[in-house]
Amino acid sequence: MNILVTGAAGYIGSIVTKELIKEGNSVIALDNLEQGHPEALVPQASFVRADLRDSKGLEKVFVDYQIEAIVHLAAEALVGESMIHPKKYFRANVVYGINLLNTMLKYDVKKLIFSSSAAVYGNPESIPIKESHTAAPVNPYGESKLMFERILHWYGHAYELKFISLRYFNAAGSKDDLGEDHEPETHLIPNVLKVALRQRQHVAVFGTDYPTSDGACIRDYIHVADIAGAHILALKHLGGNQANKAYNLGNSKGYSMLEVIETAREITGASITVANHPRRPGDPAVLVASSELAKSELGWEPKKRSLEVIIENAWKWQKEHPHGYESKRNRVTVDSR
Ligand SMILES: NC(=O)c1ccc[n+]([C@@H]2O[C@H](COP(=O)([O-])OP(=O)(O)OC[C@H]3O[C@@H](n4cnc5c(N)ncnc54)[C@H](O)[C@@H]3O)[C@@H](O)[C@H]2O)c1
Repeated sequence: MNILVTGAAGYIGSIVTKELIKEGNSVIALDNLEQGHPEALVPQASFVRADLRDSKGLEKVFVDYQIEAIVHLAAEALVGESMIHPKKYFRANVVYGINLLNTMLKYDVKKLIFSSSAAVYGNPESIPIKESHTAAPVNPYGESKLMFERILHWYGHAYELKFISLRYFNAAGSKDDLGEDHEPETHLIPNVLKVALRQRQHVAVFGTDYPTSDGACIRDYIHVADIAGAHILALKHLGGNQANKAYNLGNSKGYSMLEVIETAREITGASITVANHPRRPGDPAVLVASSELAKSELGWEPKKRSLEVIIENAWKWQKEHPHGYESKRNRVTVDSR
């Protein structure tokens, strides 16, 4: 199948691209390279440097390639920043997403996998969180993901669009030569490993008074290779009854920030200093997935489930790429707020 992957130079997009190619698909890898990295582009994919805001540029991609399905990962994805600059998030994650939808429909492409997020749930009332749980985001990032899910629903209703939204919990780990390198990095595991490498003095823990056993917030970490595997399965299910709905992707086990840090201490052998900070606005206390639906309907079974394996794997990449991808050093940051 000819598949357009948006955000293909990003952390998850690069690994999804690699898996899709391994499965025998042809991938058109689209990215504006504002956050993504040229080295993360999989050489077997056809790279198109384009921005989703540019409808003309997007049309050219559909004219040049016989696209059959889309995996849409491109997004702005910093929860904290979304609280300060919501308009950037609604524009990037909703308006530019609609550009993509309208263009694909114009060229009669009707299959899409969407990267959604656990952030759609807000502060959950029950754990583990099922897909049927009320979606009530507590930050603009989660709201933008939920809005786009709802748009997909109505486009499915009116235009026969077939889609699956995959609600990732906390992606972590690496795959071969591809790993996690965001700027700024807000995710816990890479930040803990930067302290282990003595690139930072301490790791910030936001909130020590959550109603959890050690006061730190709890998250469900899922290996990025298992996320990529779910995309392969989801694409196979796009034509059937499993389409036009959302699936959680998590390990159904939560770890507090302090437990993650302690596990990283054991794996790296480094002393990792913690700096306690007040809670961050927009951060729910506990996010743990029920992924039973993805298991029963998509046949998804995460393989790298243990936190130790996930951190070991992230640590391997971080040691081999202590400063992340090299091209980042030459980047001129564009402020598009
Ligand atoms: N990393 C996680 O833990 C996590 C959890 C839940 C959901 N998600 C979602 O998964 C997706 C990928 O996350 P990631 O961590 O790989 O992010 P990332 O920032 O590494 O990758 C996103 C990529 O999209 C590109 N991009 C952004 N806007 C674009 C535009 N307008 N046009 C073209 N390219 C554009 C960026 O350059 C970047 O390469 C996002 O949609 C994110 O919201 C991630």
